[in-house]
Amino acid sequence: MMTPDTIFKNFQIASMSEASPLAYGMLENHSIGVSDGKIAWILPDDPSKNDCSHGAEGVRIIDGDGQLLTPGLIDCHSHLVHAGNRANEWEMRLHGRGYEEIAREGGGILSTVKATRAASESELFQSAESRLRYLMGEGVTTIEIKSGYGLNVETELKMLRVAKEFESKLPIRVQATLLGAHSVPPEYQTNPDAYVDLVCGEMIPAARELCTSVDVFCESIAFSLDQARRVFQASLDSGLNIKVHAEQLTRMGAAAMAAKMGAISVDHLEYLSESDCEVLAQHQTVATLLPGAFYCLNETQRPPVDCLRKNEVPVAIATDCNPGSSPVVSLLLMANMACNLFRMTPEEAFAGITRNAAKALKLDNQIGTIEVGKAADLVAWAVKSPSELIYSIGANPIRQVYFGGRES
Ligand code: NIG
Ligand code: FE
Repeated sequence: MMTPDTIFKNFQIASMSEASPLAYGMLENHSIGVSDGKIAWILPDDPSKNDCSHGAEGVRIIDGDGQLLTPGLIDCHSHLVHAGNRANEWEMRLHGRGYEEIAREGGGILSTVKATRAASESELFQSAESRLRYLMGEGVTTIEIKSGYGLNVETELKMLRVAKEFESKLPIRVQATLLGAHSVPPEYQTNPDAYVDLVCGEMIPAARELCTSVDVFCESIAFSLDQARRVFQASLDSGLNIKVHAEQLTRMGAAAMAAKMGAISVDHLEYLSESDCEVLAQHQTVATLLPGAFYCLNETQRPPVDCLRKNEVPVAIATDCNPGSSPVVSLLLMANMACNLFRMTPEEAFAGITRNAAKALKLDNQIGTIEVGKAADLVAWAVKSPSELIYSIGANPIRQVYFGGRES
């Protein structure tokens, strides 16, 4: 057996492995050997069955004292990089104005576009870093970050560069997504199709090296089904994955269309229909639910969780961290809301911020569970069971995050 460089022992391990018949894939009395940042072995603590190299020289032993060890958390949908905030619009909404109404009057996404275009790369980095530190402080080791507040080639690329920069500066894995089709920019208000031409013809080719996916906001206040289809086709032609903001405020049919085109996730989904659920199941597309936006916009239409469950659609949960509909920097709170607002079980919600979030990023061969061969992105918590992490609000019982087996 390979001698590891680090051994984690004496933890309650919530592996989240799908292969396990136990809730949360719990493994008691097991040790984990880590070599070169990856999980090399997981073995029962039975000296008669293995030596686990516990005594080998130079091996670092991390003793969990019986506490919980989970996979690093994954936030698979965020708009972390943006300038300014929209507290003023939130206040307007509390005085009776609507989210869509504010957006139509040039507020909403477009007001963040103005601020983001004006911000320097280092200003964008600094403001996003403060949000990222909250998420990382709660055990997030992988985050997806979308562009989408530039709406021109220059600023979209600037946002993607900032997103990727975190990987070289902090112990975090970043998946960057081009969301050039987030809203029609002011310069193209009278000719949205010409903007879609720009996204397909210039933005996607220019962003190719900086991102792994392309997303579209398909909604009455954003892009039509036909426009979304064109962006998806151009993305697929460039070898990029596709994702979509779908059925958030109305049912446009974008989730089913994107699933049929091979989307890796479809997100929001409050207005998803039963037949849409069946399409997602057929294509094993991940349904990403965003309870922060549901909560902050005071929505009443819940995503069809029972139907997703019945059809065995993998469900992920994310923060949707953005200045308009979800100014949220707590992934554990999102898991709590997935339970209390959407009636998911704590185990489903925890899978939603680990295993299924990895699937939503097409990284499930690398992260999302504690299994041999995966990255040793692990979190030690001062609780005994994952449900305790989700049930309390604002507690953050984190003890230590290990990114690739290293304390971070
Ligand atoms: O995911 N739905 C569209 N995009 C964001 C909202 C962005 C904003 O309001 O700034 C979302 O909710
Ligand atoms: Fe979003």
